[in-house]
Amino acid sequence: MHYRTFGNLDWKPSALGFGAMRLPVLNNDPQQIDEPQAMEMMRYAIDHGVNYVDTAYPYHRGESEGFVGKVLQDGYRERIKLATKLPSWLIESPADFDRYLDEQLERLQTDHIDFYLLHALRAASWEKLRDLGARAWAEGAIADGRIRHLGFSFHDDLKAFKQIVDEYDGWTFCQIQYNYMDVAYQAGMEGLKYAAGKGLAVVIMEPLRGGRLAKNPPPNKIAGLFATAEVARTPADWALQWLWNQPEVSVVLSGMSTLQHVQENVASAGRSGVGTLSEAELALIDEVREAYTSLSPIPCTDCKYCMPCPNGVNIPRVFEIYNEAMMYEDQWGAQQAYKWLNEENRANLCVECLQCEEQCPQGIEITAWLKKAHELLCTE
Ligand SMILES: NC(=O)c1ccc[n+]([C@@H]2O[C@H](COP(=O)([O-])OP(=O)(O)OC[C@H]3O[C@@H](n4cnc5c(N)ncnc54)[C@H](OP(=O)(O)O)[C@@H]3O)[C@@H](O)[C@H]2O)c1
Repeated sequence: MHYRTFGNLDWKPSALGFGAMRLPVLNNDPQQIDEPQAMEMMRYAIDHGVNYVDTAYPYHRGESEGFVGKVLQDGYRERIKLATKLPSWLIESPADFDRYLDEQLERLQTDHIDFYLLHALRAASWEKLRDLGARAWAEGAIADGRIRHLGFSFHDDLKAFKQIVDEYDGWTFCQIQYNYMDVAYQAGMEGLKYAAGKGLAVVIMEPLRGGRLAKNPPPNKIAGLFATAEVARTPADWALQWLWNQPEVSVVLSGMSTLQHVQENVASAGRSGVGTLSEAELALIDEVREAYTSLSPIPCTDCKYCMPCPNGVNIPRVFEIYNEAMMYEDQWGAQQAYKWLNEENRANLCVECLQCEEQCPQGIEITAWLKKAHELLCTE
């Protein structure tokens, strides 16, 4: 394992962190974590040097924290720093801060959280928490030992990001969505450098764009570009090395869902380091970005914040099929995939209530895209 720096803290995080949001499940049900498999994966990662584990109150519909608590028995808790997040959208009064933190400590079977984040901040949710006294409350929880360090995860634009960074000098770290496709999206590269310049550690989420950048790339454009590289790498390795190449990046979290992913990403982390990619390799990634941008119109990362749709539309799946039609230039294949989608989950059931658009961290115009997708994909 390769270890990096963590802002102003005197502690070295592993280059790879484990995100407990996409653990293997049974019966396709996010609430039924496949515990034996997920336990083996998480402990394999820790046994191979991963020392940062990230979870959150809502992951796996509330089951992730309790499961992580089990993984961290038998001495594993002492080997890692644990991060979890306050469910910002559920906070209605100052008393809720303690209520959720104490419930999380119990779920996680621990007496302290090393890195506690205000989850998925946007300008409005930050202002609400700030006005409810989040900063003074967190200082109290740090003083009484339940929290060691405070940070926030983020899904809004660069202006909001800078505002949140600037409005509190007690942040130790932040967590941003960042990968070679998202250099100018949300906090982006400018936000990364801004926060790091102020001494914050920056933890990366969605490094593979929720898995999109790890799949076999379209044969013509992107696979062809990768094939010209001096050193052969898997698509996942390209995306991860691009992040680790940058000095401002502290930990890269991956939400691994098989043991093979864990083994590969641990091995990638072991080969990583600042400045390890050549100029030619960095230029190649720029070309790949341009090629993908020209192919994939909907910037969905499958985070499922839009779900459940009150009318049953499986929004991430519809978008995945539509994007694949474009990326792989395979309308017929996508239409077949759409046929397999349950009629109760198709895009034509959208009634434009806009609930999904309020939740989407990517700011996608979901209703408009659903219409477009149904027109292209439905053959009946
Ligand atoms: N705070 C927030 O608002 C927020 C939001 C999002 C995420 N997060 C945190 O950040 C973590 C990381 O984000 P993420 O889960 O989106 O990470 P990610 O690494 O971008 O995506 C994970 C997915 O990538 C694929 N993958 C991973 N390693 C692979 C490999 N070696 N080869 C092929 N495919 C591979 C898997 O997809 P398949 O299973 O499809 O193959 C896996 O489910 C999360 O787990 C969570 O802890 C936080």
